[in-house]
Amino acid sequence: MTMPFSRRHFLQTAGAGAAVWVPSAVHGYTGAEMARRAEQSGGELTPLGLSMWDLDTPALVVDLDALEANIATMQRTVTSNGIASRPHAKTHKCPAIARMQLETGSVGICVAKVSEAQVLFDHGIDKLLLTTSNVTPLKIRRAMGLRKWCDGFVQTTDTAANARDLSAAAEAAGVVADVVVDVDPGGHRTGITPGVPALELAQLVDRLPGLRLRGMLCYDGGSQHVKGFEARQAQTLERLAAAAETRERFQRSGLNTEIFSGGGTGTYNIDHQTPGLTDVQVGSYVFMDAQYIDIGGADDPDVYSDFQPALTILATVLNAQYAGRATTDAGAKACTINRPWSRIKGESGMIYTSGSDEFGSIRYEADASRTYAVGDKLELIVSHCDPVVNLYDQMYAVRNGIVEAVWAIAARGRST
Ligand SMILES: Cc1ncc(COP(=O)(O)O)c(C=O)c1O
Repeated sequence: MTMPFSRRHFLQTAGAGAAVWVPSAVHGYTGAEMARRAEQSGGELTPLGLSMWDLDTPALVVDLDALEANIATMQRTVTSNGIASRPHAKTHKCPAIARMQLETGSVGICVAKVSEAQVLFDHGIDKLLLTTSNVTPLKIRRAMGLRKWCDGFVQTTDTAANARDLSAAAEAAGVVADVVVDVDPGGHRTGITPGVPALELAQLVDRLPGLRLRGMLCYDGGSQHVKGFEARQAQTLERLAAAAETRERFQRSGLNTEIFSGGGTGTYNIDHQTPGLTDVQVGSYVFMDAQYIDIGGADDPDVYSDFQPALTILATVLNAQYAGRATTDAGAKACTINRPWSRIKGESGMIYTSGSDEFGSIRYEADASRTYAVGDKLELIVSHCDPVVNLYDQMYAVRNGIVEAVWAIAARGRST
């Protein structure tokens, strides 16, 4: 079998990773690397130290003060609630951010795909929980190939047949693979039915020679965007009750329950009430987006303000000659067509749509806070952060509007 990547490859890229430290609180390309990249791209100026407003657009920008505040809020909350965070890298796909999360106390990083796990491991992230089951022989082999190098790789299963396949592949790769049982919270997207079916699967995993049971996960995606804190709390606690009862069955049967992972950005301050839950797999909190802002929080029924919008798209106005509207260079390929639409940061009385491939349009309402001229730049709060990030090769990390680092979105497009 050809290994998807080798120990030598990992060491080479880990070495390169060490060189991308920037002398501030952030990681990214060094000034020398940026100069080399600029030379290769025809002499464009390195953006380090530039105002974000001088960047070419569309550009993906992350505000470091907001990002750091979001990470700190999450850590403070989960710690005071007696649980941990295991942030999901499906949101940022960015090794620099995963590293920040681990350095500030997260117990591991979740990934949605084997390819995301491979990229993060290549960049030195070695505590990885793959939250999606692998069902094809190829993916299972790739996962076991990764497990061979990465002791901290844990993966999910939700059927007996899949557990047997994993065990056989682990034995063929010469490893004992760490596995959690995915329990369905009721949405029937993934996972096995809680109670006896989940218990029997866990017992099988515990018996199979190629596997080591580490516990369970139960991600209640259907509750994350329920509007209103009370409604969200009631729904998710009810839906997770069966998973908590399943965990008790595991315990009574002498099975390992060291991991009981679940929850997301919408329920991060609720999930600790589910008995036995060890950590939240929060993703969007690092960036926030319009979809999450609208769900409302414990303090405000209309605006979820626990976390700050840290991720924006910088766009330029291309046309302003028609009454009531303007056109920008950030359309569907820069913003996606997710709803609600992106929002112009700091402005009111205007609606932004990104239905056209390369063009965004602004419609002014009667009370618009301003109008734009050709060449003006604006910042958009993203609609839904995960798919937007997946459109860009890099993000500009800025503080007070100045570019401090350029972060590779190294797992961008890694969907297998
Ligand atoms: C399995 C799993 N865990 C965690 C998350 C993170 O959710 P959020 O971005 O709402 O925090 C997701 C998001 O879709 C997910 O699919």
